[in-house]
Amino acid sequence: MVSGPVSGPVSGPGSGSGRPRRGLLTLEQLRVLVGEGEIDTVVLAFTDMQGRLAGKRLSAEFFLEEVAEHYSEGCNYLLAVDVDMNTVDGYAMSSWDRGYGDFVMAPDMSTLRRVPWHDGTAMVIADLTWLDGTPVAASPRQILKAQTARLAERGLVALAGTELEFVVFRETYEEAAARGYQDLNPANTYNVDYSILGTARIEPLLRRIRLGMAGAGLYVESAKGECNLGQHEIAFRYDEAVTTCDNHSIYKTGSKEIAAQEGMSITFMAKPNAREGNSCHIHLSVRSAADGSPVMAGDGAYGMSRLTEHFLAGLLDAMRELTLCYAPNINSYKRYVPGSFAPTSVRWGPDNRTCALRLVGHGPSLRVENRTPGGDVNPYLAVAAMIAAGLHGIDHELPLEPPVTGNAYRDTDIRVPDTLRDALELWEKSGLARQAFGAEVVEHYANYARVELAAYDAAVTDWELRRGFERLLSREEPAHVCLYRAQPCHGGAGHHRDPGLCGGDRFRHCQGRGGAACVARGGARRPGPAAARVRRCGRRTPFGAR
Ligand SMILES: Nc1ncnc2c1ncn2[C@@H]1O[C@H](COP(=O)(O)OP(=O)(O)O)[C@@H](O)[C@H]1O
Ligand SMILES: [Mg+2]
Repeated sequence: MVSGPVSGPVSGPGSGSGRPRRGLLTLEQLRVLVGEGEIDTVVLAFTDMQGRLAGKRLSAEFFLEEVAEHYSEGCNYLLAVDVDMNTVDGYAMSSWDRGYGDFVMAPDMSTLRRVPWHDGTAMVIADLTWLDGTPVAASPRQILKAQTARLAERGLVALAGTELEFVVFRETYEEAAARGYQDLNPANTYNVDYSILGTARIEPLLRRIRLGMAGAGLYVESAKGECNLGQHEIAFRYDEAVTTCDNHSIYKTGSKEIAAQEGMSITFMAKPNAREGNSCHIHLSVRSAADGSPVMAGDGAYGMSRLTEHFLAGLLDAMRELTLCYAPNINSYKRYVPGSFAPTSVRWGPDNRTCALRLVGHGPSLRVENRTPGGDVNPYLAVAAMIAAGLHGIDHELPLEPPVTGNAYRDTDIRVPDTLRDALELWEKSGLARQAFGAEVVEHYANYARVELAAYDAAVTDWELRRGFERLLSREEPAHVCLYRAQPCHGGAGHHRDPGLCGGDRFRHCQGRGGAACVARGGARRPGPAAARVRRCGRRTPFGAR
């Protein structure tokens, strides 16, 4: 039994009227728990470029005697590898030429907590520094801290909430890998958006995750079903920006660990299949650092203060050049489909879910929701980018353009970048990114994107094989797939919307009618006028002809 105080330290402003958070520990409480044999392991971890927790499992004894007072070290290649942990060229801070030395993992004791889903385990998040104590510039947590420090200079503090969606499959991760991630069984077989029955079908898993996270000091708000098969979301209460991003990382890793323990798998991929993607909307507000009073509300339009107008204007102005921070992978860009609830146009609107930026709440709860990030986002980079962009708006007193109150998907003037390649180019040219983050950070993450692009360019995908192996050059059976966003057409959201984008530049497969067949002779799943037209004439209509 624990003989010391049972509740840990109080978390930040979003932690719920200052109540102590169960699961958070002081060092003294940890000592007591270790003494009583309740805790024997301490995970020391930081979030890497890909958003993964990396670090070590330390014996609690060693942690208390050595690491808590000092620090631990890790190989600095951890911020210079690809997703497969290959060493790759192009990183200034870490390379064969520099001998792949160590950096310091310094535990941030305010993050010490229990990890209830593992026996006898606690965890603490590390800050990364060099041996002389200077921050490792490319470390995501240090990047965010640099931006919250800039806010603090102006007497402001950022509060953030991240809404992470995920898809659950009934296979283990190993089974999923063995099947090449094909033909997996989603936990739900129909759209369970807000469905109580749908969430109940996997409540044992969802409950373990919710209670596990609550026991690790996170404040769970709710769980709800989503649209894709097996898709769900667990929402956590907003908190100070760095705390929210720590929690996000702990939850993302922890929920995968719990799913694995339950013999299931969870993915946070931005677009795991051709249906609805996993989003990670980020809610952000700022308050006065002095007394925590809200500064977003005012007597301007939609209840905004002048500061909020500038903040929003900055977010809009910088959105395209900072998209790399919101959408870091090849796959991220496949979410941006019209009519999918993921944004395509860089616009804002009051409570408008078709825009990249949605103004939400009123009075003290007034905040901005950035709908661009997907489930694959690195939260530290995304929140850092939002703060940098907002400050850019405040510092330059940027005027706010009129809101979009209708369907922002119709607006094609200023679009979220279409591909990682576009986002990289914008990022590399961004004066704002260089000024806010520094050249080292810009170069580091540009290299990250270049590495991803090179790996993707070198890969031959199952999609290419399926289309090209036999059929692509055959006269009898030319390809009959909707090429909108290069995905097989299933008639779902985003397909059929724009005939000009559909079917490449040779054929008009889709006739701009959702639900109507676009697969031409490849098989109309649901008969519709377009399919009838195709069948009647017996051939596909050349693009541009009626
Ligand atoms: N003032 C605030 N600042 C930042 N985040 C907030 C604020 N108020 C609420 N949030 C967070 O916003 C997130 C989503 O809120 P919710 O109202 O459920 O959004 P949605 O309407 O997008 O589903 C939650 O994590 C919540 O804690
Ligand atoms: Mg949302």
